[in-house]
Amino acid sequence: METQSAETKTQITDFLPLNGTDFVELYVGNAKQAAHFYKTAFGFQSMAYAGPETGVKDRASYVLVQNKMRLVLTTPLKPDHEISAHLTKHGDGVKIIALWVDDAYDAFEQTIKRGARQYMEPKTLTDEHGEIRMSGIYTYGETVHLFIERKNYSGPFMPGYKKWESHYNPEPVGLLYVDHCVGNVGWNQMNKWVKFYEDVMGFRNILTFDDKQISTEYSALMSKVMSNGNGYVKFPINEPAEGKKKSQVEEYLDFYGDEGVQHVAIATHNIVDTVTQLQNRGVEFLKVPNTYYDDLEARVGKIDEDVEPLKELGILVDRDDEGYLLQIFTKPIEDRPTLFFEIIQRKGAKSFGAGNFKALFEALEREQDARGNL
Ligand code: FE2
Repeated sequence: METQSAETKTQITDFLPLNGTDFVELYVGNAKQAAHFYKTAFGFQSMAYAGPETGVKDRASYVLVQNKMRLVLTTPLKPDHEISAHLTKHGDGVKIIALWVDDAYDAFEQTIKRGARQYMEPKTLTDEHGEIRMSGIYTYGETVHLFIERKNYSGPFMPGYKKWESHYNPEPVGLLYVDHCVGNVGWNQMNKWVKFYEDVMGFRNILTFDDKQISTEYSALMSKVMSNGNGYVKFPINEPAEGKKKSQVEEYLDFYGDEGVQHVAIATHNIVDTVTQLQNRGVEFLKVPNTYYDDLEARVGKIDEDVEPLKELGILVDRDDEGYLLQIFTKPIEDRPTLFFEIIQRKGAKSFGAGNFKALFEALEREQDARGNL
């Protein structure tokens, strides 16, 4: 009953209909090398390129794709560029979470009138493949949501980009689409950003974890999960909490220099196969102690997978009312302890692995301690 009435309400109030994540854009120090890394290590495919050769004089952007996930890697070409200042402050990280809409002009109007801070006024880009309409607003820190409307476009990515043909095409590893993107925000800022997603973007809070649920002996955090109306876009938001030692969220804030995206979770249909390939290609993952697997089925119930390969790879399992999920987290993918990726396979479960938080955060704290930041 409660679910039904919530859905009815959502349909009435969904002033910002979203079709999903259009792309995730990282600002990086060297986009050419980063593109090689994401192809080699993560199995992304070459899709499109923009730079001096395509008439974009101040930056280079590489677009990579794997199934429905598009990753854009952008680097500035001159020292006095605003992206250079962004990189000096934050290091490599997510600048843009772009959302796929049917009307980018309306998305801008709806969010601005509800209090969003403008990043990009609506504009229309055209070339021989048609038109892309886009606009953008700021969210936490210097992070941005672009609204991308591509229903009248048939080119490789968007105007300004050309198709990127490469002779180097490592196999994909089965990554499918963005499942969720998590933001780390400052002390006492979580509810401010929950309200932003509710009021400005029409999202609702679907799950809440307090610091008692997400704490180890040493450190703690709080988290609230925001979802748009159709559930295609989910943004958990973390805030540090007081513990005996420094919260992992605080370590992130120290090194990113601001609020920002902590991790991007990518879905797969076969996590054992995907993670095997990622590990073979050199991707490093957080490891929990082997004792995690001793009573696994007693904790989460019967699962389809053999426990042994999960244990060898370090894959975690959690169950909720609707099913279970398998997940694993990479170590940070740059030298600063900031952005990392999660690989997730959902088998009915719609939650985020709360049952794994303790084991996971203890693993994370061992890394944090090794860096001297606990
Ligand atoms: Fe996650």
